[in-house]
Amino acid sequence: MSRSADLFARALAVTPGGVHSPVRAFGRVGGTPVFISAARGSRITDVDGRHYVDFCMAFGPLILGHAHPRVLEAVKDAAGRGWSYGAAEEGSLALAELITGRLPWVERLRFVNSGTEAVMSALRLARAATGRSVVLKFDGCYHGHVDSMLIRAGSGLAAAGVGGLADSAGVTPGVAADTLVLPLDDIGALEGLFAARGADIAAAIIEPLPANHGLLPQRQEFLDALAWRCQQHGALLIFDEVITGFRTAFGGMAEITGIRPDLVTYGKIIGGGFPVGAFGGRREVMELVAPLGPVYQAGTLSANPVAMAAGLATLGQLADGTAYLALEDSGRMLDELLRDVPGVRLQRVGSLFWIVLDGGLADGPIRTPAGLGDAAARRFPPFFHGLLADGLYLPPSPYEVGFLSTAHTDDDLHALAAAIANRAKVPDT
Ligand SMILES: Cc1ncc(COP(=O)(O)O)c(C=O)c1O
Repeated sequence: MSRSADLFARALAVTPGGVHSPVRAFGRVGGTPVFISAARGSRITDVDGRHYVDFCMAFGPLILGHAHPRVLEAVKDAAGRGWSYGAAEEGSLALAELITGRLPWVERLRFVNSGTEAVMSALRLARAATGRSVVLKFDGCYHGHVDSMLIRAGSGLAAAGVGGLADSAGVTPGVAADTLVLPLDDIGALEGLFAARGADIAAAIIEPLPANHGLLPQRQEFLDALAWRCQQHGALLIFDEVITGFRTAFGGMAEITGIRPDLVTYGKIIGGGFPVGAFGGRREVMELVAPLGPVYQAGTLSANPVAMAAGLATLGQLADGTAYLALEDSGRMLDELLRDVPGVRLQRVGSLFWIVLDGGLADGPIRTPAGLGDAAARRFPPFFHGLLADGLYLPPSPYEVGFLSTAHTDDDLHALAAAIANRAKVPDT
């Protein structure tokens, strides 16, 4: 028995499903999760001493790779000065100044401890700002495990197999009733809903580049139509940039699309791999948050100084934009290497990529969960385990996206492409 298998058996005795976040359980791919013991650059090592090139990168935060020296130094320095004060300190000020100074749509921001917390707080704020209850989300977009967002919310929940209106048990019908869901990429449906319910909608929340049911790039016209309808009907537009913020560009999809959301949520990269989220936006809305305004929001460990130092060191490496050019070059190389591989489609935006194992799809990008059959999911488990045996670690689900970092080398990309081409040959069963 491998040491990973042994540890997993022990974990099952003390933790639901043996893991602290469901996708880590390998439920979509079968087998035993590998327990990681160390990581540096593009590589991770498991407790059995096997090495992998990591294309999961902790599901997104590690855009500079694992244990980047500058981040490590900043973290050690911060920890050496004590790791939690529960009081005002300078690190969070520096990080907030960097972000608000660079991103004009973030006039004020508040740090929290996760993407989920950021979304939860932004929704409460939007409801308070508008005096309305209903929130619009889109099928396939995931916004963390906020009760009202656990409705048609992406791959992890689809896998949970819970029926009913909400995707999770424990969400009350009352909460679910306040969430409206529309398909992505459907301007007609958007117009119809706003015409019927526009005056009830506090906010529309969207991943402007949905990346939780595979990668589903949206047309600019669709995002423009959403922004316009929100403005017309007095609903706030919330861009959930927990994945895309500081990833597709320093200013994420708001920068790329030129759309100015009223509120935006961040997570992942903003903390450089430490538990940080943030919500921010227009000053007059954000000033409704306590202690200035009536919307309560707080956190014992919020703006933790060690996490702030990691975020500041990470964003400091990204601020001049050169990292994004290098990441785009890496992405293009992957496109080239996989262009003619039969039975494999790569959907990629910058350093986010999604491998779709289905040669039978219509041409053109997949933009909605409905655009995908089940062949890709069926073919994924042996493919995933094949790559693992080749020393390549992908996110363990056919619907999770892969992440490139500045630590990945050309050799890493060649190895990935060669393994994909080889392992994708396994016939569909
Ligand atoms: C778009 C989006 N929003 C929110 C979240 C929730 O963030 P967290 O897992 O930090 O709570 C995620 C997590 O993957 C996400 O991808």
